[in-house]
Amino acid sequence: MKITVQICSGTACYVMGGAELLSISEHLTPDELEQVDIKGIMCLGLCENYNPNTPYVKIDDEIIKNVTIETLTERIRLAIKAKAEK
Ligand code: FES
Repeated sequence: MKITVQICSGTACYVMGGAELLSISEHLTPDELEQVDIKGIMCLGLCENYNPNTPYVKIDDEIIKNVTIETLTERIRLAIKAKAEK
């Protein structure tokens, strides 16, 4: 089963960096891309009052905050590695 990467594309996350995160596939290798299912989703409901933790991404069941393209790349690689070790 693929690792699910859900990038919050609601307004608060989108304007705070989520837009850039949607290009994550350009930062992954073809092998890595085969193991993940990446999609933009509607507001995760965590951005109340435009809190400073946006943008959010959900990787499988884990929510990560203040995501940058670098941290997202790293977290996806860690998730792939953890899955391979299971
Ligand atoms: S816009 Fe991302 S949690 Fe609401």
